Formats: sequence, structure tokens, C-alpha cells
Amino acid sequence: TQYEMIKKDLAGEKKNVGVIHLNRPKALNALCRQLMTELSQALTEYENDASIGAIVITGNEKAFAAGADIKEMMGNTYAECIIGNFLADWTKVSNVRKPTIAAVNGYALGGGCELAMMCDIIYAGDKAKFGQPEIAIGTIPGAGGSQRLTRVIGKSKAMEMCLTGNMITAEEAERTGMVSKIFPADQLLNEAVKLGEKISSHSPLTVALCKEAVNVAYETTLQEGLRFERRTFHATFSTKDQKEGMKAFSEKRAPNFTSE
Ligand code: HXC
Repeated sequence: TQYEMIKKDLAGEKKNVGVIHLNRPKALNALCRQLMTELSQALTEYENDASIGAIVITGNEKAFAAGADIKEMMGNTYAECIIGNFLADWTKVSNVRKPTIAAVNGYALGGGCELAMMCDIIYAGDKAKFGQPEIAIGTIPGAGGSQRLTRVIGKSKAMEMCLTGNMITAEEAERTGMVSKIFPADQLLNEAVKLGEKISSHSPLTVALCKEAVNVAYETTLQEGLRFERRTFHATFSTKDQKEGMKAFSEKRAPNFTSE
């Protein structure tokens, strides 16, 4: 597929990490409809490619993404938002079965911050800045900024960010648990790829089950989540990869997973 607003390339020693570069630098990677359509398509391609074990989404040093495209949406009416199902293109990011890693340098604002939070893991460059500035332009977060952010960093901090529009630094984002690690900007992508390679070294089948289980923690009550986890744990015993993983351990050798 030909892309205009993103670039795809394979990374890692075994070329098993699919990288997507948001590539609309003149608009600080503002997330217009075309960019989001291309991103969804690229994610679907990686999802269907059995050689890919994890996906990294990144921007450039100045911006991961400065939000939804303000100039594109400014004239929207309420009716058009509904009829056109505005933001429907965004759901793909949070529904990918393979693990997704956001590697955030520079600005992750509005929809850019929400896009990062849709990913499973966020790594940040030391100059990264996160914010939900929608309030300053007469709207509110529309893709999880008032919901995912609140679950991740808590009500007081999320309220403060959403009501002031103020940005937080990479350090603050790490302290609150929104970001799992910080690296010097020029090492960020490499570190995100290494993380993707580590994940890709495990059974893709087990990884998919594990990702699903962690996501349930986010979406339901503790009792429901524990039930789902227990039954999914039980289900791993029906896979060849569980037999192989435990056999390899007892034979002191590396496992050879086949996703069966
Ligand atoms: C469209 C954008 C944009 C955006 C930047 N640009 N952000 N265009 N939509 N979200 C464009 C600018 O218009 C400008 O284009 C070029 O990118 C460079 O931006 P500057 O503002 O000149 O850069 P700088 O002075 O360095 O300031 C950086 C910035 C600022 C602080 C990040 O650009 C900014 O405040 N951007 C908007 C951030 C924002 O409000 N995001 C939330 C959007 S609402 P020209 O043509 O002039 O060079 C949202 C809703 C989400 O995301 C709902 C669910 C998805």
C-alpha cells in the first residue's frame, strides 16, 4: 500500500517489530482523517503479518502528534459528526490484537495524547510533553482523554490537565505511571524496538491472551477481571506453546514456540 502521511518499516534483528512513523511534520503530525485511515490500514497489515510480534508507533523529535486536525474539524456541525461517525477511524488503534508501543518524543497533545494512551505501553523521550488542551479551543477530549487519562493518573491530575490544558513533562508522566520509561530522545526509538523484540521472542498466541487479560483489568470490575484471568490462564494449558515453554524450562533450553 502507498502511504502519504505515515511511513512503515520493519525493525529488530529478526525484522519482527513493525514500526509506523507518523509523517506529517509540517502540521506537527496533526491527526487528520487521511492520517488516521492510513494508520488503521497499516495496523491491520501488521496484525495480519505473522512475522510481526509487536508494533511501535512514533513521530519525530518535535512532535508525536499535536492533536486531531483543528483546521479540518473546525467547521463540523453536530449532525455531521454523528452522520459521519467522526473519530470512528480511531477505534482500530485500541483494538489491535498485537502489542502496541507508543514511542513519544516532543508533543503528545489532545488526540496525540489519546493516541499514545490507546497503545499498550508508552515510552517517552526526555523532552516529551503530554497534554489535553482541547478546553482552550472550546471543546473537550473525544478519544479517551477524560476517561483513560483519569484511570491512569487519577482524578485530581486528570481534572487539572483537562480543565487547564496545561502540559505535563515526561518525568511527571512517568511518575504517575502513564509512561513506563524515559530515554534520551535519540535513543527512544531504538529502546522501543528492543522492547518490541523482547515481546516478540515470546509465543504470539500467549502474548495475545495476556494482552487481552490486562485490558480486561481496565474495562471491568476486579471480580469479573479475576474470573476472566483465571479462565484464560486455564486456557493456556490447551496450547502447545504452554507444553513447549514448560518443557524447555525443565530441559534448560530455549523454547521454540509455534502459536499452536
Ligand atoms: C492542525 C496543527 C495542529 C493541530 C499544530 N498545527 N497543531 N494543525 N491541527 N492540532 C500546525 C500549525 O497550525 C502550524 O501550521 C504548524 O502545525 C506548526 O505549529 P505551530 O503552532 O507554528 O508550532 P509551535 O509554535 O512550535 O507550537 C506547537 C504547539 C501548537 C504548542 C503544539 O502547535 C499547538 O498548540 N497546537 C495545537 C494543540 C492542540 O490544541 N491540540 C488539540 C487539538 S483538539 P502552519 O500552517 O501555520 O505552519 C483534539 C481533539 C481530540 O485533539 C479529539 C479526539 C481525537
